[in-house]
Amino acid sequence: MSVPLTSPSPTSAPTRPLPIVRTVADLRAAVATFRPARVALVPTMGALHAGHLALIAAARAAGAERVVASVFVNPAQFGPDEDFARYPRDEVADAAKLAAAGCDLLFAPAVSDVYPPGFATRIEVAGLTERFEGAVRPGHFAGVATVVTKLLIACAPDLAVFGEKDWQQLAVIRRLVVDLALPVEIVGAPIVRDADGLALSSRNAYLSADERARAVTLPRALAAAREALQAGVPVTTVLTTVRTRLVTAGFAEPDYVALVNAEMQPLETLAGTARLIAAARIGGTRLLDNLTV
Ligand code: PAJ
Repeated sequence: MSVPLTSPSPTSAPTRPLPIVRTVADLRAAVATFRPARVALVPTMGALHAGHLALIAAARAAGAERVVASVFVNPAQFGPDEDFARYPRDEVADAAKLAAAGCDLLFAPAVSDVYPPGFATRIEVAGLTERFEGAVRPGHFAGVATVVTKLLIACAPDLAVFGEKDWQQLAVIRRLVVDLALPVEIVGAPIVRDADGLALSSRNAYLSADERARAVTLPRALAAAREALQAGVPVTTVLTTVRTRLVTAGFAEPDYVALVNAEMQPLETLAGTARLIAAARIGGTRLLDNLTV
């Protein structure tokens, strides 16, 4: 009896399981086996969506031959009243998505490995972190800068990819890499959005259907603001209009709506390449967005 030969269809082809390492020693050993390939690191806190997976593609596009992702919900970057405990965690699903996206290795350390007893070191990036997210979330950027520095030292990648979704975070990371002369290229990747324009975020999972419908006002108000700025409407008028639109749509009074330059300094007139940035809460969920002008 002959058995028909079937070839696996590309959509159902099983992806090989992703190797997972949990200690810095194992990470270094695994990355050593990749050399001399060009290695990228993509740091995340998991609950992965298409925005995270686009960072893997961006790593490849930037010349990475091997891509390491990290998933670590970093307690040091959450304030005491923030969502560390309820932050979505699903390592099995994350590993499957990373494997399907072509990631080569997952670093998923335990909190006690990243912050062993007696841990006392903190990386503070001054200036850049004083406004906006830094003002609203005291200690947040020190938590980010410290863990990202640890990840970069542990993995020693040739490049590391971060999303423009967290515009200020990207500026902070670029600054610390220059200041500490870390031998890594930082690559920024564009924001991935849902079909209606809302930037993908792990925290979008917290939105009720009603909040999700209203949330789209954030990207829409920023897009309208960009047009108004380009049409010559004064910056303060444009920023006030964004605030009003958000509050009318059911957001709380925004934490900030600003036009900033590359150093995250507020601009009162449109000059050079500027970025519109905003953060506002809808229900219990804080949403961030930004747009180049
Ligand atoms: P997390 O929020 O998981 O985001 C991980 C990376 O994905 C960040 O570089 C972020 O900017 C990027 N990202 C998230 N949503 C995106 C979207 N819609 N489009 C493009 N990129 C997107 O940011 C962190 O984790 C942490 O602060 C971390 C850097 C991992 C340090 O703990």
